[in-house]
Amino acid sequence: MNLKQVIKDDIYNILTDHLNRDDILVESPKDRKMADYAVPCFSLAKILRKSPNDIAQMIKDNLDNELYENVEVVNGYLNIFINKKIITEYIINKITVDKSKYGSNNFGNNKTIVIDYSSPNIAKPFGVGHLRTTVIGNALKNICEKNGYKVISINHLGDWGTQFGKLIYAYKKWGNEELVRQNPIDELGKLYVKFHKEIENNPALEDEGRKCFKNLEDGDSESLKLWDWFKEESLKEFAKTYDLLGINKFDSYAGEAFYNDKMDSVIDELDAKKLLEFSDGAYVVRLTDDMPPALIKRSDGATLYITRDLAAAFYRKKNYNFDEALYVVGNEQTLHFTQLKLVIEKMGYDWSKDIKHISFGMVLQDGKKMSTRHGKSIKLHEVLDEAIELANKYIKDRSPELENSDEVSRQVGVGAVIFNDLKNYRTSDIEFNLEEILKFEGETGPYIQYTNARINSLLKHKQSINIDYNKIKINEFTWNLVFKLYSFPEIVMRAKEKYDPSEIATYIIDLAQDFNKFYANEKIIDNDKEATEFRLIISEIVAIVLEEGMRLLGIEAPKKM
Ligand code: ARG
Repeated sequence: MNLKQVIKDDIYNILTDHLNRDDILVESPKDRKMADYAVPCFSLAKILRKSPNDIAQMIKDNLDNELYENVEVVNGYLNIFINKKIITEYIINKITVDKSKYGSNNFGNNKTIVIDYSSPNIAKPFGVGHLRTTVIGNALKNICEKNGYKVISINHLGDWGTQFGKLIYAYKKWGNEELVRQNPIDELGKLYVKFHKEIENNPALEDEGRKCFKNLEDGDSESLKLWDWFKEESLKEFAKTYDLLGINKFDSYAGEAFYNDKMDSVIDELDAKKLLEFSDGAYVVRLTDDMPPALIKRSDGATLYITRDLAAAFYRKKNYNFDEALYVVGNEQTLHFTQLKLVIEKMGYDWSKDIKHISFGMVLQDGKKMSTRHGKSIKLHEVLDEAIELANKYIKDRSPELENSDEVSRQVGVGAVIFNDLKNYRTSDIEFNLEEILKFEGETGPYIQYTNARINSLLKHKQSINIDYNKIKINEFTWNLVFKLYSFPEIVMRAKEKYDPSEIATYIIDLAQDFNKFYANEKIIDNDKEATEFRLIISEIVAIVLEEGMRLLGIEAPKKM
């Protein structure tokens, strides 16, 4: 049931001779004391040549639908109050039947969306710099599925490029197999740093590194073996971080290297279409005047990041026949994705419009970009471990008896980090402050999880008795909750349209706050059996939607905490 649509239809049927359905606006007032819905009649006044108040009055006199409890004419607006009993019964039925499926829709019609996200770089630590792409991408995957899309999740691993040449060179020259086996990521990191130190005194190393990459690209077996090993070790290390985050397998881990043998055909096609130009010692595609050309191939034949992304885009179009291809990558790569899209457009493919760069702001700590600590890059799993540890401390203080407190601490610590990342508009920078994000009050993950756990402990009082809704009084706090629950499906759609999980995050914060007002205002359990049962059912459907909202964001919902 779409109330806005019902209102529109009813008004249209009254005014039908004079206007189009879309001339009628139905707004949701910020202040719900004013009305549940408001219809401004100013633009109608021009069309119908009557004063807004007269029009509102005319509509009011003719509206006849039990869905409206009360209708008022105020300053050119028609203010509509919805019948609380009907909607409350409707929403209780709907959510208790649909459960976690509530809010799902078929909008996507099974169309395919590929989402490229997380995509950390091999032989480097999984740093805090890859936090946002990972959690935003994961949430978008869930949100798109909820809207009826088929989603292919792709981890476009950074496993190719000159840096691997440098690493192979450094390993062969200074590496110690035993040490690398014991502690691969750290040791490889050290070797990489050493390479860059040495280069200061010995610039020729740059060329050596390039040569080594060229060998790798040409399939030299010793280089490939090392590369394979480094990659395997990295993936093992990354898996720990994904496990902590509770992120399941990606549908594909085809990283940059996967496209090594798929670039020639794109380059040939660019050439055949006369788009490739030799300029300043490299092959480029010229784009618009205000944009640097896209560098496709160096004179020594080495390919670039964008060359691999071109091959990847064609591969994905061919194999998944996507309707949309999302790339969840930070702001700093905006030029790259603009170029990627433009090159494909220039090649004559209109699906270039389906390529969407889903960018996001930075993670800040004390107002500065959070990436290193004492000169070392901050690993994501360290951040998560710290959050879990602090969560553990809080939980031990609050509920010393809790059985599986280690598991709950992980859920709460990680949930706090994820929620903090998703609660603001995707494009805003976010501030990371461990103490703040783990508070059990305010706009935090733990606050939502705690509200949900509190409801779950209330629910043991539920008795499954029948309720006569005619006897139930629906007060302001209850109605706020019901009306909020009613709007969830709309929020799910908007989150997809804007590709922004913060729609869901702010929604569940509001819902949790509304629940806590409801809880503070009245005793849930008292001597009136039917009223108690009613309040418990309301609580139960709130928990269903809170849990589903958390699931969409990738946050776990402990039943007790
Ligand atoms: N590995 C890259 C990085 O860490 C991100 C890759 C994003 N995806 C892509 N298809 N370019 O910066």
